[in-house]
Amino acid sequence: MQMPYYNVDYIATHSIMKGSNAKDILVNNSNKEMSEMQTKNQVEDSIIQESLLTCIDLANSDLHQSALLLKKACLDSGFFYVINHGISKEVTDKAFEQSKKFFALPSEEKMKVLKNEKHRGYTPLYDQIPDPENQVQGDHKEGYYIGSEVPRDDPQWDRPFYGLNTWPNPDVLPGWRETMEEYHQEALRVCKAIAKLLALSLDLDADYFDSPEMLGKPISTLRLLHYEGISDPSKGIYGTGAHSDYGMITLLATDGVMGLQICKDRNAKLQKWEYVPSIEGAIVVNLGDMMERWSNGLFRSTLHRVILNGQSRYSIPFFVEPNHDCIIECLPTCQSENNLPKYPAIKCSAYLTQRYEESHLKFSSYKKTNLSEVCSPPSFHYPWFSS
Ligand code: OGA
Ligand code: NI
Repeated sequence: MQMPYYNVDYIATHSIMKGSNAKDILVNNSNKEMSEMQTKNQVEDSIIQESLLTCIDLANSDLHQSALLLKKACLDSGFFYVINHGISKEVTDKAFEQSKKFFALPSEEKMKVLKNEKHRGYTPLYDQIPDPENQVQGDHKEGYYIGSEVPRDDPQWDRPFYGLNTWPNPDVLPGWRETMEEYHQEALRVCKAIAKLLALSLDLDADYFDSPEMLGKPISTLRLLHYEGISDPSKGIYGTGAHSDYGMITLLATDGVMGLQICKDRNAKLQKWEYVPSIEGAIVVNLGDMMERWSNGLFRSTLHRVILNGQSRYSIPFFVEPNHDCIIECLPTCQSENNLPKYPAIKCSAYLTQRYEESHLKFSSYKKTNLSEVCSPPSFHYPWFSS
């Protein structure tokens, strides 16, 4: 069977068509390379190119062949594409359409569903700052979190990351909730299929992750994102600052506007950032830190960020983490006498809580009058905060 493996010419042509100004950015950056650049951030940006990622065909019935291909991708960057994933164009288009409708609402309407302690709802511009060392402001994006719906009659409903979602008023956005619930369900199905391949690629039973103890009641979060502005790494301004994802698997659907970059070697003296182009019909997938911990550092949770070119950009990441009380510890197949576990065991929900709190503004601080007290970078400002 022929392996689907996109060649870089195809990706470049395709993404430039869809991403309009993407080419300009690439050209600008190579021109910059020739000028004198002293700051670290400028130097970083001087060698941007496009990434060539593996493509996994989820309709391939030869799971072992797919697992082998996946393993290569996970050792290299943990970023890959999936095709034939079964999420229809109609479902995806509807989710993007409804997402745009939400973000187009007046600010007062969006603030009615502001993110609560359960991490559900609207996150305004600049709410998140994943890389405070290099960011002078929070991310130039607004978002909306939709988590796993755990009903009140469930004994665990009040656990962190479980519970009920918060929804925009259905009179204002009819059908919105149904659209997002459908996408959420579909995305979870795809993640479970990927989890099977991941298990095989780590020499585990196919159902190792997709088991009641691990993904029986997963913490799965759909996030709608809307980016605006122009990034300038030399000034510490980003769509999303450099970060790795916290969990197990992230699916990323985008509207085709270029912006996502990955850095395969975070410890390199000169960080090299590569664009990840969108491909029609394919979903970008990346592994998060839990997967890196499970695999004892074998599989990569790669640093990534979003650079904006002035065009509006919409994306829909879907994050999957295992059950609330699942313990993330080195897998039996990833350790030996000569390769002892490198990370201490952690409980899924405790780890996630810590990571969310580190990177997001606290819910209580939305209500404070003096926001400079709660934001570390001095130049933070909150245009959505009136008073
Ligand atoms: C994220 C993320 C990338 C994008 O939400 O964690 O990396 O393209 N998003 O929106
Ligand atoms: Ni991310």
